[in-house]
Amino acid sequence: MKRTKIKDLLKTTPTGQTVKVQGWVRTFRNSQFIAINDGSTILNLQAVAELNSLEEATIKRITTGACLSVVGELIPSPAKGQAVEVKVKELEILGDSDAEKFPLQPKKHSLEFLREIAHLRARTNTISAVMRVRHAMAFAVHKFYNDKGFYYIHTPVITGSDAEGAGDMFRVTTLDINNPPRDEQGKIDHKQDFFGRETNLTVSGQLEGETYALALGEIYTFGPTFRAENSNTSRHLAEFWMIEPEMAFYDINDNMQLAQDFLQYLAKYALENCKEDLEFLDKRAADEEAAKPQDQRNELGLIDRLKFVVENDFQRLSYTEAIDILKNSNPNKKKKFQYLVEEWGVDLQSEHERYLVEKHFKKPVILYNYPKNIKAFYMRQNEDGKTVAAMDVLFPGIGEIIGGSQREERYDNLVQRVKELGLPEKELWWYLDLRKFGSAPHSGFGLGFERLIQFVTGMTNIRDVIPFPRFPGNAEF
Ligand code: 4AD
Ligand code: MG
Repeated sequence: MKRTKIKDLLKTTPTGQTVKVQGWVRTFRNSQFIAINDGSTILNLQAVAELNSLEEATIKRITTGACLSVVGELIPSPAKGQAVEVKVKELEILGDSDAEKFPLQPKKHSLEFLREIAHLRARTNTISAVMRVRHAMAFAVHKFYNDKGFYYIHTPVITGSDAEGAGDMFRVTTLDINNPPRDEQGKIDHKQDFFGRETNLTVSGQLEGETYALALGEIYTFGPTFRAENSNTSRHLAEFWMIEPEMAFYDINDNMQLAQDFLQYLAKYALENCKEDLEFLDKRAADEEAAKPQDQRNELGLIDRLKFVVENDFQRLSYTEAIDILKNSNPNKKKKFQYLVEEWGVDLQSEHERYLVEKHFKKPVILYNYPKNIKAFYMRQNEDGKTVAAMDVLFPGIGEIIGGSQREERYDNLVQRVKELGLPEKELWWYLDLRKFGSAPHSGFGLGFERLIQFVTGMTNIRDVIPFPRFPGNAEF
């Protein structure tokens, strides 16, 4: 007999049919009532055994975490909060779970503890809900771009380029680290390395993405990216997923509009397709909020924050305007910011971004036209000689969720910037070629997928929205 997923059973009208359910025991009460979860939904299915129908030996084995297969009649449930339940006819234990040793008990565990058992934490309501939402968001990303006629391009994971010029890269090598071959100057000889050159894990698919945008028009990448920055924060991972659309013939304004449309689409998709999981996460977030001091609480709950994003235009504002607001802000005047905003040209810290979004505008903000000295080499230089056509989308509770720009399409301007910054012009030959052969205005951005999932699920730590987080000092599992 084929199993039916609990998600489908809960929507089925009972007509005396026999069904098969397979899943993991969440709770077992009274030697009779088994709450089973199979991961298809946050909701459990109750299997009910007739009193004294189960053998003592079997009862002992129905423990939290054990895996069961149950065949029985689907009947209307007399209990509150569920439409149907299953009256047990046959019960088989597929996998025992020693109650003494199973680390997940039917009680609340801290997220910190769950991270230490990341191989089992998907069996909790919170992590399973987050991962179902994560799936839905990944699917929605593809749907959004496919419906718009963008092409999904797989950019390489191993690259020789450093797209962000940040230098925080993981090396990829097959050389013997204990005894690497050396050249005449005594330097490690990468000519003898696997690729005959130095390579690293990609920090961004953008540069390769640009080559395809200037051929196919509108493309996007969606893949893992790697940064060896030593950031132990609740918003940084060493391995994270990024969505990077890149569009020929888009200027910075078109780029900002696409970023807004994209984020609104995703929030709306979640509201429409992840209802039960979001309701659970909304309640969970509310409990967490209640434990915070009044002045640090969110004004809106999770679902209301999603609705707010869908329904309101994002505030667009230049870096220069933002600096004026920040300079004159209360926390700046009262020296409450850790980094005081004194002059034009400083990089914004997350306390500044959050002030703009959460206190000043009380809505998502798109900042544009940043000083060129704090942004990457490829961004388009503005007429003023000081700024570039960069844009960052800032979200409540998250800070920067998207970073992007119009790209410098003028060969001379780009080469001059490469030289000024002392970047390896030779290695960028193919990127510069794009500006030699049929260059075009073009733009793009990167959305940090885990930061999006944080926003949509209300999880405060990025380590809880990816199955196996990678961060400094941790690569377990
Ligand atoms: O602002 P970033 O560094 O921009 C780029 O990489 C560009 N090449 C994107 C482009 O224009 N195609 O990163 C983009 C986004 C950030 O806004 C943030 O959401 C996320 O990626 N991000 C991280 N997420 C998790 N952990 C990290 N260490 C992250 N670094 C960036
Ligand atoms: Mg950025």
